[in-house]
Amino acid sequence: MPDPTIETPHSVAFPQDRTCPYHPPTGYEPLRESAPLARVTLYDGSAAWAVTGHAVARELLADPRLSSDRARDGFPLTAPRLEVARERKTALLGVDDPEHRVQRRMLIPSFTLKRATAMRPRIQGIVDGLLDRMTTLGPPAELVRDFALPVPSMVICELLGVPYADHEFFEEQSRRLLRGPDMADVIEARDRLEAYLGDLVDRKQKEPGDGVLDELVHQRLGEGELDRADLVSLAIILLIAGHETTANMISLGTYTLLQHPERLAELRADPALLPAAVEELMRMLSIADGLLRQAQEDIEIAGETIRAGEGVVFSTSVINRDDTHFEGPDDLDFHRTARHHVAFGFGIHQCLGQNLARAELEIALGSLLTRLPGLRLAAPPEEIPFKPGDTIQGMLELPVTW
Ligand code: HEM
Repeated sequence: MPDPTIETPHSVAFPQDRTCPYHPPTGYEPLRESAPLARVTLYDGSAAWAVTGHAVARELLADPRLSSDRARDGFPLTAPRLEVARERKTALLGVDDPEHRVQRRMLIPSFTLKRATAMRPRIQGIVDGLLDRMTTLGPPAELVRDFALPVPSMVICELLGVPYADHEFFEEQSRRLLRGPDMADVIEARDRLEAYLGDLVDRKQKEPGDGVLDELVHQRLGEGELDRADLVSLAIILLIAGHETTANMISLGTYTLLQHPERLAELRADPALLPAAVEELMRMLSIADGLLRQAQEDIEIAGETIRAGEGVVFSTSVINRDDTHFEGPDDLDFHRTARHHVAFGFGIHQCLGQNLARAELEIALGSLLTRLPGLRLAAPPEEIPFKPGDTIQGMLELPVTW
């Protein structure tokens, strides 16, 4: 068990709500000042290390002495809702090697750059269809509901072989899992998703389709490499990670561009900047802010000792603004080399869907800006609601007009 008495007087609460949706919380200022490591206090009063420096973050994220297994005694959790992970194993994200390697290897062929590139025409078709609908019905539009959420939701359904007709059901369960009020709500949402995906797996055994889940059912389940429960657990993480994160990047990315008119004009004038703009937005927005680990052994780093059993949280929003690595880190600058950001994580758990996410973001943001040259916010920016600090960051709603 970590020793709660090691908390220093300078300990900062983690996580905190952002004041501006695209900047780290102002309350993280002391974390930036004490980089590369700081002490934080989690919601339950326990102490943990926060990694805030870029070089140390990459070193530690690649260090096998840090575990991702949330069932471990004293594993640091950043919201009461996450306590569910102590009882139910989260596939991939919540397992260490060698188990992790086995799960990841099964999925790698479905998430290569080549596969994401091959999906581009289909992603473009989905984006065009949604923009056609939006321009027929509007202006105005609510961009989260009408575009940012359906784009990745439709894409992940096609890729996995999940019927999009059920999107309202699984989007609602995902929302509860990521932002539910308490454990009971989260457990119920997880049970419902498990039952739904379990039925889908059973149906796929009888009537094969051509999604990633079908491949897993026929190649891995059939061969006995995976059991049904493991497959359902993988399906849950792929379905949730596959749509919620990208949806937040589309909504918050659009908001951020609209709040930086010069950068927006630059991007419109030179669409070749789009891949760099996506990378820079990933860095600046750092929507998955707070990656969780626990030391399994003592680790000496940056003049400190992280003791076995202590919790470690990686504040990606602070790491990605380390001014020893990124010059003028608070500026949105499409000409910097942002590629080494840790917004997709780093090490063995680095985002499996990053090729797909980049393709979706380039196509969604590029097409939105081209099709709607007059795009603007339809409400004062400070009145538009965004997500609290203890979940993936993004806009709750985004009223726009054009
Ligand atoms: C822009 C959108 C996205 C962001 C910001 C993002 C962010 C991340 C981050 C930070 C991690 C590492 C977590 C950790 O180390 O604890 C991660 C892992 C993961 N992501 Fe993404 N992600 C995005 C899109 C996607 C998409 C589209 C998929 C598609 C299925 C996906 C699937 C996964 C999976 C399966 C993992 C776990 C990998 C492992 O543990 O080996 N993500 N993501």
